[in-house]
Amino acid sequence: MARSRMWTLVLLAGLSAAKYIVPGGRWHDTDGSLVNAHAGCVTVDKQTGKFWLFGEHKTEGQTEGGGVSVYSSDDLATWESHGLALAPVEGHPYLSPSNIIQRPKVIYSKATNEYHMWWHADNSTYGLLLQGYARSPNISGPYTFVSATAPLGNWSQDFGVFTDYKDGRSYALYSNGDRKEGRDVYLTSFNEDVTGLEKVVHRFDKYDLEAPTIVQTEKSYYAIMSHKTGYRPNNVVAFRADSLAGPWSQPFIVAPLNTRTYNSQSGFTLTIKGKKKTTHLYLGDQWDSNSLWESRYIWLPIEIDDRKKTLNLVWHDVYDLDVKSGEWSPVTGRAYLAADAKTAGGAFKQEANFASKGTIVTGIYGNDSTVTFEGVEGTGKPQWVSFYYQNTDDMGFGDQPGGTPDRIGGTWQLRRIASVVVNGNTEKVETLFQRDTHKGIILSTPLLLTLEKGKKNTITVGGLWNGFDYKGADLDRIVVYPPEGTAGRH
Ligand SMILES: *[C@@H]1O[C@H](CO)[C@@H](O)[C@H](O)[C@H]1NC(C)=O
Ligand SMILES: *[C@@H]1O[C@H](CO)[C@@H](O)[C@H](O)[C@H]1NC(C)=O
Ligand SMILES: *[C@@H]1O[C@H](CO)[C@@H](O)[C@H](O)[C@H]1NC(C)=O
Ligand SMILES: *[C@@H]1O[C@H](CO)[C@@H](O)[C@H](O)[C@H]1NC(C)=O
Repeated sequence: MARSRMWTLVLLAGLSAAKYIVPGGRWHDTDGSLVNAHAGCVTVDKQTGKFWLFGEHKTEGQTEGGGVSVYSSDDLATWESHGLALAPVEGHPYLSPSNIIQRPKVIYSKATNEYHMWWHADNSTYGLLLQGYARSPNISGPYTFVSATAPLGNWSQDFGVFTDYKDGRSYALYSNGDRKEGRDVYLTSFNEDVTGLEKVVHRFDKYDLEAPTIVQTEKSYYAIMSHKTGYRPNNVVAFRADSLAGPWSQPFIVAPLNTRTYNSQSGFTLTIKGKKKTTHLYLGDQWDSNSLWESRYIWLPIEIDDRKKTLNLVWHDVYDLDVKSGEWSPVTGRAYLAADAKTAGGAFKQEANFASKGTIVTGIYGNDSTVTFEGVEGTGKPQWVSFYYQNTDDMGFGDQPGGTPDRIGGTWQLRRIASVVVNGNTEKVETLFQRDTHKGIILSTPLLLTLEKGKKNTITVGGLWNGFDYKGADLDRIVVYPPEGTAGRH
C-alpha cells in the first residue's frame, strides 16, 4: 500500500514538473538575471519546437537603443539568455545607442531559409518613423542590418506582425504616428520572401490605436490594440473579422473596465496548437516608466468565443501551461484576508464594499504602520504569493492621453512600493511594486517568497520610498500558491 502510494506521488511530481507562468512577477532567466526582452515576440523554431523570445533590451541608463535580446525556452517559463540578437552599433544611422529600436518581431522566411527581423526604427525624437529590417541564417542571430524604410511611403511607429496559419503569409501591422494625417493602424502584406511589404490589406482608420497584434482562430481574426497613453496602461480593444481585408467589427474592450487590461499593453499574441487543445496567449507588457528596465510581462490565456464573437482576457495569478498538449489550468492558492490580519501604527481597517469581507487595510506607511498576516501555511520551498491591493494615487486620470495625475500640477506616481517581510526577518526586505489602479479596483502583484514549513508564518507589509513617499497601497488579501511542480495537472 505505502509503496504504491509513494510511486503515485513520484509519478505525479514527474508529470507536473513544468514551471508556472506568473503574470507580473519578476521573471528570471537561467542565469538568475531579470528577463529583459520588452515589447517583442515569441517565434517558434519549427524544427525543434523551441520558443524564442525577442524584445527590447533595457538597462538603467540605456532604456532605448539597447538592441534586441533573445532567449530560448521549451516551456515558455524557463528562459535561457542568448545575449543580443541585434546589437547597437556606435555611429550607425539606425542602430546607434541613441536610436529607437522598438517592438522587434522575427519571422522565418521559407523562400530565403533565413530569419527576418523587423522593428520600429527611429531617431530619439521619433521623427523618422521607419521599419528596420535585419536577417540571419540563425534564429538566435546575430542579425545583419539590411535597411530602414518607410513602408509603401508611409510612417510607421508601433510595429507588429502576424502569420496566417492557413496560407503561411505574413503581415505587418503598424500605427502611423501621432500626426493629424496619421492615427491609423495599417495591416499590410509582406512579399512571399518577407523581405519587403507588398500591399495594404486594411487600414484601421483614425481610431488612434497602437501596439497592434492579430490572433487567429479557425473562423476569425481578432486584431488587438491599445489606446495611446504613453507608458500608462489603458483599456486594450479588439476588432473581429472573417477575413483580413474586412469588414472588421467595431472595437470592443477585452478586460474588465478600469483594470486597464490588468495594467498592461498589448503587443503580441502566440497560438499554441497542442495535441489536445489550441491555446492563444496574450503577451502584454507591464511598463514601469519610473524604471523601464524593470518592466514586467503580463502573459494570459485568451478566451475566445467565435459564436458570440467575443474575446476576453481573464486574470490568473499563476497558471500551469503544457505547451505539448496545449492545455493549461489556473493554480489554486490559499487566501488570507486583510480583514483578519493585524494592523500596527497608523494602518487601519476601513469599510470598502468592493473588498473581501467588506474591509480593506489602509494607512500602510513606512516601517511602523503595517499589516501582518498570521498563521500563513508554507512548505519551506519558494512559493508565489499574490498581494491584492488598491492604489488610487493617480486618481484614474491615467486613462487620458493628456491627463494630469492631480489638480495641483502633480507628477505621475504610477506605482507604490511596499515592503514585505517574512517571519519578522527585516534583514530580508522584499520590494512589492503596486501599480496605480482605480478607485474600487483591486489588482495583484506576485512575489516569490520562501515560507517556513508549517502554519506559523507571518507576512508583514509596510511602505517603502517610491520616489515620492513611503506609502504602501491598501491591502485586500494575499494568496499563497503551492510551489512549482506540485499542483498537478489534469
Ligand atoms: C529626427 O528626424 C527628424 C526628421 O528627419 C528631424 O527633424 C529631427 O531633428 C531628428 N531628431 C534628431 C534628434 O536627430
Ligand atoms: C548559429 O548559432 C549557433 C549557436 O548559438 C552558433 O554556434 C553558430 O556559430 C551560429 N551561426 C552563425 C552563422 O552565426
Ligand atoms: C500616411 O497615410 C495617411 C492616411 O493613413 C495619409 O494621410 C498620409 O499622408 C500618409 N503619409 C505619408 C508620408 O505618405
Ligand atoms: C525602514 O527601514 C529601512 C531599513 O530596514 C530603511 O531603509 C528605511 O529608511 C526605513 N523607512 C522609514 C520610513 O523609516
